[in-house]
Amino acid sequence: MIYLAEGPRVAIRYISMQDFEELAALHEESAQLLARWMPGAPLVTYAEFERYMSRFDGPLNEGFLICLRDTGAIAGRVNVNNIIRGTHQSAMIGYSAYASTTGHGYMTEGLRLLVGYAFGEMKLHRLEANIQPDNAPSLSLIKRVGFQREGYSPNFQFIDGAWRDHERWAVTVEMTGA
Ligand SMILES: CC(C)(COP(=O)(O)OP(=O)(O)OC[C@H]1O[C@@H](n2cnc3c(N)ncnc32)[C@H](O)[C@@H]1OP(=O)(O)O)[C@@H](O)C(=O)NCCC(=O)NCCS
Repeated sequence: MIYLAEGPRVAIRYISMQDFEELAALHEESAQLLARWMPGAPLVTYAEFERYMSRFDGPLNEGFLICLRDTGAIAGRVNVNNIIRGTHQSAMIGYSAYASTTGHGYMTEGLRLLVGYAFGEMKLHRLEANIQPDNAPSLSLIKRVGFQREGYSPNFQFIDGAWRDHERWAVTVEMTGA
C-alpha cells in the first residue's frame, strides 16, 4: 500500500475504485451515523460510488482514506474539496469515520496527517471545515486538530432534507507554526 503520510496508528492514502466493497460495507453499517451530518448519496451501490469518484477526475477535489497501519483497514474518509489555487491556495475539507471506527482517536491522527500533507505536498495555505453547531464530535475533532472558529453561516448546506446552519472553522499554515 502506498501511503502519503504515516502516524503511530493510522496512515493516509488516495481513495480508489478498488475501495468500493470495503467502503460500501462501512457506509451500510454507518447509515444512521452519517445521514444527519453528511451531504450526498449513501455510497452503497457501485453506481453511486462511480458518480462520487468522478469528482476526483479534475484538479478541484482530492479524496483520501485514513487506514489502520497494522491491518490496512479503512477507518475514515477525508475529502479536500473546492481547491482554489492562485493567491488563495485554499480548500474545504469534508470527513467521516464509521460506526465501527469512531471513538478511537483515528480521525484526530488522520486529520493531522492530512493537514500536514495539504500544507506540504499539496502546497495549500488554508483549509476550511463547515460543521453544524449541534455536531459535537466533529467540533471537538476540528478543535483538537488546530482549526479556529471564524464565523457562522446560516442555511449553508442542504443536508438530510433541510438547509442547515454551519459554523465555519479554518486553519492556515501560520497557525501550525510552520
Ligand atoms: C465527526 C467524527 C468524524 C468524529 O470522529 P471521532 O471518532 O469522534 O474522532 P476520533 O477518531 O479522533 O476519536 C476521538 C474520540 O475517541 C476517544 N478515544 C478513545 N480511545 C482513544 C485513543 N486511544 N486515542 C485518542 N482518542 C481516543 C476520544 O476520547 C474521543 O472521544 P470523546 O470526543 O468522546 O472524548 C465522527 O463522529 C463521524 O464520522 N460523524 C459522522 C459524520 C460527520 O459528522 N462528519 C463531519 C461533518 S462536519
